[in-house]
Amino acid sequence: MRLRLFACCLLTATAARAQQPLPLTVQPGNPKLTISRHIYGHFAEHLGRCVYDGFWVDPALNVPKQGRIRLDVVQALQKIKVPNLRWPGGCFADAYHWRDGVGPAAQRPSRLNVWWGDTPEDNSFGTHEFLELCQLLGTEPYMAANVGSGTVQEMADWVEYLNASGTTLARQREQNGHPAPYKVSWWGVGNESWGCGGNMTAEHYTDVYRRYATFAHNFPGAPLKRIASGANGDDAHWTETCMKQIPAELMWGLTLHQYTLPTGSWSGSKGASTGFGEDQYFSTLRNALKMDQVVSRHAAIMDRYDKDKKVALLVDEWGVWTDPLPNSSALYQQNTLRDALVAATTLNIFNNHCDRVRGANLAQAVNVLQALILTDKEKMLLTPTYHVFDLYQVHQDAEWLPLQFQSPDYAFGSEKIPALNASASRDKTGAVHLSLVNLDPGNALTLEAALPGVTWKTVTGRVLTAPKVNDYNSFDQPAVVQPAAFKGAQKRGDKLRVTLPPKSVVVLQLT
Ligand code: AHR
Repeated sequence: MRLRLFACCLLTATAARAQQPLPLTVQPGNPKLTISRHIYGHFAEHLGRCVYDGFWVDPALNVPKQGRIRLDVVQALQKIKVPNLRWPGGCFADAYHWRDGVGPAAQRPSRLNVWWGDTPEDNSFGTHEFLELCQLLGTEPYMAANVGSGTVQEMADWVEYLNASGTTLARQREQNGHPAPYKVSWWGVGNESWGCGGNMTAEHYTDVYRRYATFAHNFPGAPLKRIASGANGDDAHWTETCMKQIPAELMWGLTLHQYTLPTGSWSGSKGASTGFGEDQYFSTLRNALKMDQVVSRHAAIMDRYDKDKKVALLVDEWGVWTDPLPNSSALYQQNTLRDALVAATTLNIFNNHCDRVRGANLAQAVNVLQALILTDKEKMLLTPTYHVFDLYQVHQDAEWLPLQFQSPDYAFGSEKIPALNASASRDKTGAVHLSLVNLDPGNALTLEAALPGVTWKTVTGRVLTAPKVNDYNSFDQPAVVQPAAFKGAQKRGDKLRVTLPPKSVVVLQLT
C-alpha cells in the first residue's frame, strides 16, 4: 500500500502556479526494489527503413560497417547502453519463418513483407545477423516467435537451433558459422495475438500460448524467459485471462502495447510530427500520461493473481505515433522536443512502477515511429528522444527512490495536466539521480527537495530543451535539440533548490 501511494506521484494541484518553491521529498528506497535496466529496451522490426537501410545497409554505402551492419548507428546505441533489442517484429514476427533467414545468403528465399506494404524481403538479415548486431551492441536479444502463422515445432526448433549442443539443429548452426550455443533467453510467444498476430480471443490465445511455451525447451545455460503477448491499451480482459489461465511457471512476463497518438485517433489523422501547435502539444502529453493509468490498471489485475509480483509486465511497444512524413518509407516520422518530453515522462512512469514493470521497448530504434536515430544515405542524426535515453541511463539497475510531491497544473483551454513528473534512484556508487520533467511550455517551475537519508555535497546536471516544442534535429541542422550543462540547481542547507525551465527535461546527480 505504501509503495502504491508513493508511486503515484502524478498528482494534480488545482492551485495556480505557487510563488513559493514546490516542496518535494525524496523518500528512502528499498535496496531490493531496483529499476530494471530492461525498461530502457528497444525494438527493431522488419518495417520501413528500420532493419533494411537502417541497421543493415547496402554494401556500397560509404559508412563504417561490419559486414553490412552500420557501425555509426551501433556506436551511438552503445553509448546509451541498450539492455535488450526486440526482433523481428511487431506484426512482421507472426509472418516470419526463421529458416528463411539462415544459411548462405544467396540461397535464402525472397518473400514479400505483407504487413508493411508488400515490400521485398530478401532475408539477408536473419538470425545470425541479428545476433551479431546484439553482440556488437552488448545487448540481450529478445526474439518474437511466430505464433500466428507458424507452428509449435517451428518455435521449438528455433530455440533448439540457437541454444542446443550436439543435435542436428545445433550442427546446422555450427555450419552456419556459430559453434557455441547463443543462449538466447528472451522469447516472446507471438505479437499482438488479439490483432495482426492472429485475431485471437484471449481465451483461445492462452491455450495456444500454453502449447508453445511447453515445447520451447530450456537448454543448458539458457533458461527461457517465456513472454506472453499481452493487452492492447487498457484491455483488462486480456490481462485477466492470461493471468487466470496461464500457470506462472510458464510465463516469465506478460506484455502491454500502448502508443501515444497526438489526436488520439487511429482512423483519421494521427497528427503531424512537426509544425503542430499548442493544441496538439497538449493533447499528445495528455495522451502520453495515460500510460500511468493503463499500467496501474494491468498491474492491479496482475497483483490479484500474483501477489509476489513474479510475472513481469513488459511494455514492449510504446511511443509517439504520428502521420508519416510525405513521400517517406513506412512509419517514418520526425522527432521533436515534444517526443523527448513524452519519452522522459513515460520513463518516469515506468521507473515509478518498477515493482511490476520490468521491461519496455520503445518503437522503434531507427527510422520508424519515435526513433532514436534517423538516417539518410551516409548521414545520420540523433533525435531528441535519443538524448533522453542518454540522460536516463543512470537509472538502469539503480535502487528506486520514491518521490512525494503535488504537481502544479499546466492548463490549456478547459483542460489541465500535471506540469511536473519525476523519478529518482540511487546507483551502485551511492550517487542519487533525479529526473525531472516540466511539461509547461510557458512557465519555469521552482522546487525545493528534502532528501532525508541522502548524504550529498554537490549537485550537477544536464538539461534538454529548445526554443520551441516543435523544434527538431534535421540532417542539415542535427544539433538544434541536444543536452547542455544545467546550472539551475543549488544546495541550500540540506535541501536542493531547482528551477526547471519551461518544456524541459533535467537530470541531476547528487554526490
Ligand atoms: O511498431 C509498429 C507496429 O505496431 C508493430 O508491428 C505492431 O506490433 C504494432 O501494432
